[in-house]
Amino acid sequence: MVGIIIIINSTSSVMLLESHKRRLLSLLFHFNRPENYISMFHPEGSDTLYVGGRAMVFLLTFTSRGVRDLEVSAQLGLIMSDIHISPPRCLECDNFITVIQKVNDTIIVCGTNAGSPRCWMLVNNTVLTDVRGNGQIASASDISPPYPSQKSISLPADGSMYSAMSSVAGHAGSIRRTFGSQKLLKTENVWLLNPQFAGAAVIPSSIKFKEEIYFFFSEFNKTARVDEEPFKARIGRICTVDEGGIKALLADSWTTFMKARVMCGAGNTQQQYNNMKQAVVLTAQDKRAGVLYGLFSNAWGRTVICAYSIEDIDQAFTTSKLKGYSSPFIGSRPGMCVRKNSTAGGHSDIKNLGVMRYHPEIEDVIRPVGVAPLDLPTDDQITHAVADIVMAVNDEHYSVLYLGTDQGKILKVLHTSEGVFIISQYSLFHNEGPVLNMAIDSQKGHLYVGTAMEVQRLPLADCGRYGDTCRECILSRDPYCGWDRSRRKCIPIPPGYNRRTSPREVMVQSNTSVFLPCPVRSFHATYRWEKDNCVKNYPCLFSGGYCVLGPAVDTPLREGVFRCMATEDGFKVEVISFRLVNHGRPLAASLASTLGPSLLLATVTLWLH
Ligand SMILES: *[C@@H]1O[C@H](CO)[C@@H](O)[C@H](O)[C@H]1NC(C)=O
Ligand SMILES: *[C@@H]1O[C@H](CO)[C@@H](O)[C@H](O)[C@H]1NC(C)=O
Ligand SMILES: *[C@@H]1O[C@H](CO)[C@@H](O)[C@H](O)[C@H]1NC(C)=O
Ligand SMILES: *[C@@H]1O[C@H](CO)[C@@H](O)[C@H](O)[C@H]1NC(C)=O
Ligand SMILES: *[C@@H]1O[C@H](CO)[C@@H](O)[C@H](O)[C@H]1NC(C)=O
Repeated sequence: MVGIIIIINSTSSVMLLESHKRRLLSLLFHFNRPENYISMFHPEGSDTLYVGGRAMVFLLTFTSRGVRDLEVSAQLGLIMSDIHISPPRCLECDNFITVIQKVNDTIIVCGTNAGSPRCWMLVNNTVLTDVRGNGQIASASDISPPYPSQKSISLPADGSMYSAMSSVAGHAGSIRRTFGSQKLLKTENVWLLNPQFAGAAVIPSSIKFKEEIYFFFSEFNKTARVDEEPFKARIGRICTVDEGGIKALLADSWTTFMKARVMCGAGNTQQQYNNMKQAVVLTAQDKRAGVLYGLFSNAWGRTVICAYSIEDIDQAFTTSKLKGYSSPFIGSRPGMCVRKNSTAGGHSDIKNLGVMRYHPEIEDVIRPVGVAPLDLPTDDQITHAVADIVMAVNDEHYSVLYLGTDQGKILKVLHTSEGVFIISQYSLFHNEGPVLNMAIDSQKGHLYVGTAMEVQRLPLADCGRYGDTCRECILSRDPYCGWDRSRRKCIPIPPGYNRRTSPREVMVQSNTSVFLPCPVRSFHATYRWEKDNCVKNYPCLFSGGYCVLGPAVDTPLREGVFRCMATEDGFKVEVISFRLVNHGRPLAASLASTLGPSLLLATVTLWLH
């Protein structure tokens, strides 16, 4: 155990903050000294946030009573004495913790180590030791930058760690597999031009070997003329099954790396935002039907957000011509994800390796959905962004962006096909410094926000702020919230609400009558049908143990989600729900297959009436 630094310092800094203007209950941790560079790692579903700071890993545990802080010191002195260098005196010459990631059960921690990066593993949440185990690990300088103002990205996938190092003095910049039992691979230097990384994301696939990782970055042309834009925003991708090439070609390099140009700006106008600063991806479990949000800036430092369809990007990588290559492909298209050991070493493979080596860039350019940047009605400088997919009470999926600004504000933004809408805005910090980092936990419904002075945890669903009427609750357009009529409150949609009660689909033809049955389980309860949350509700007819919603004046039984709600002793529960889809197959056929006997029974009962 060389160069170990073990000082456990358990303080208990507890603060519950009742924000002045509002009723939001947030939990706050205050640093003892300013932390101008912070890395974060949050295991989803937990209450713990790992924060990497200056010569320190903070293990913050958020509880209802406050924030518990356990500190693991990573001071330079001990390490420096090992390698006989006297600690330099400069602002960035400490051991700034830049990477905290969990791969299987191993927590990897890397720091700048005053210009010569090092990695450790965090054992028992208390001790930093040298990395051991069956996995191999790359050189720390391919994982952590030497100085904290430089950016690196690390993410785990499939039991390995992948790292993207920006181009810094003495390092050309690279995308690598850096830890695990799979072969450690890298990009060829000529594939990347002074990359500055902005993010990375695993793009899952239902077919395991087709899993990919996208890397987001800007390339910088040092020799660009003054009247030329030096930055180009990029997406690079690799397959996680990649095991490298053959001895003569790409032996230790990716054989599946491709990159594309990304535009963020209105059409082909001159007003382009070319410097991608940060990127986040929202993916639905298995599908490529995800969204990429990129934070871009232009030469004047103005920031905007552009949104991209992952499906579009996937399509481009799968079908585009390769830049500078016009011959037809021999055999399968080069660069596609294929199982490790299918036809290795064949003639067409060597040819394809050559194509990948010399033509990694595709011709197609990736453009944002809606053609232009999101039209955010704000001039705030955005410093950090995270995003969440929310399933609202009306059973639709919404994207919600949380944008941190240089003044310590958080904008909560709803993004739909119709555009963007600022749902709410928080200024919670005591000091108005820039938001440096954020982590989101969709499962638990928490947002962690860090500035140089503080780390706070906020609830994603903050419904109490939307007043005491149904109208205000709905007008907030906050998809995390719904109106509880029996309690007369705007409340967070309970976890699993939609999943537990996901509506059954009914296809309807416009000229047929639909009868929706709701089984009556209690004669003490009141039954009503609701459409689209509290916006509309309808009485029902009791018939043979069912409360049936049928055609009537003012009952638009054509499309939408209909929920039967039973209220008893002030408790309201959903009994059953249906989603009516218009222009379906003939009613009789679809009824039998989607609904089973209960609806038929109800309709028959009604007809017998
Ligand atoms: C971690 O905890 C286990 C069980 O308490 C102990 O046996 C082990 O020595 C600890 N490891 C280190 C490096 O302290
Ligand atoms: C993680 O677990 C997988 C499956 O057990 C294994 O193949 C891989 O080598 C492990 N990774 C590390 C870094 O130990
Ligand atoms: C960088 O810009 C110069 C000047 O326009 C140009 O000649 C050169 O090809 C560019 N480099 C790359 C790699 O695009
Ligand atoms: C690939 O490897 C798997 C397991 O190692 C083996 O079962 C399979 O037969 C191999 N496929 C080919 C085409 O060699
Ligand atoms: C419903 O409309 C379809 C097509 O418009 C027509 O063929 C069918 O006869 C209509 N059914 C009834 C019950 O009116």
